[in-house]
Amino acid sequence: MNVEQIIRTRYASKAYDENRKLTAEQEQQLFDLLRYSPSSVNSQPWHFFTLFSDEAKQKILPAVTEANAGKILKSAMVVVFATRTEITDSYLHALLAQEAKDGRFINEEAQKNQDKGRRHFVNLNSGSIQRQQEWMARQVYISLGFLLLGAATMGLDATPIEGFFVDKMDAALGLKEKGLTSVVVATVGHHNENDFNAQLPKSRFGQEQVITRL
Ligand SMILES: Cc1cc2nc3c(=O)[nH]c(=O)nc-3n(C[C@H](O)[C@H](O)[C@H](O)COP(=O)(O)O)c2cc1C
Repeated sequence: MNVEQIIRTRYASKAYDENRKLTAEQEQQLFDLLRYSPSSVNSQPWHFFTLFSDEAKQKILPAVTEANAGKILKSAMVVVFATRTEITDSYLHALLAQEAKDGRFINEEAQKNQDKGRRHFVNLNSGSIQRQQEWMARQVYISLGFLLLGAATMGLDATPIEGFFVDKMDAALGLKEKGLTSVVVATVGHHNENDFNAQLPKSRFGQEQVITRL
């Protein structure tokens, strides 16, 4: 399938086949989709909790709305997308060290400039801790988009899920203690015959309503 076919046929799955798991290769590709997602100034302000076992899924069940419980329990993989609660100085140092290790800098000056530029952007978006958290959440949503499109290219079904309670999710996974907070959830797997959304035509506003070509 080409990208045009993929975007027209992918959809938010409403019911999964609990007997169909992911292969090790699929699991790895999904992890790579998350980890290689782009983020502003390469900030990567995220952590992805991937849940496979019944035990792990049961743990977060009280944190999701009733309508989403079946997807959590029956999908092959659940991803809880979290952001850091704060971008600290030590985190910025760790980012820079990783980029240096990955060979991103031709010299000391290039490294300094990267650090300076990133701190400028982080500060621009850190007028308050709430603004900084919103900025981090925007980066996390890019990884959600990567996962959704990537899963579809792999022939997998997926569902983005905002129907959950942040406080309960954070408590279930002990996120506060880790300096993290949950932002959004997604499930991935194979749909089953009860997935009514698989048959429905896609509905979107027309091109002229949402795209202006100048
Ligand atoms: C950020 C986000 C949150 C969503 N939350 C839920 C959810 O909690 N439960 C659900 O069944 N679908 C959820 N959806 C699916 C949307 O309803 C669906 O993507 C939208 O209707 C477009 O349909 P399509 O994805 O099938 O093309 C969510 C979608 C997005 C992008």
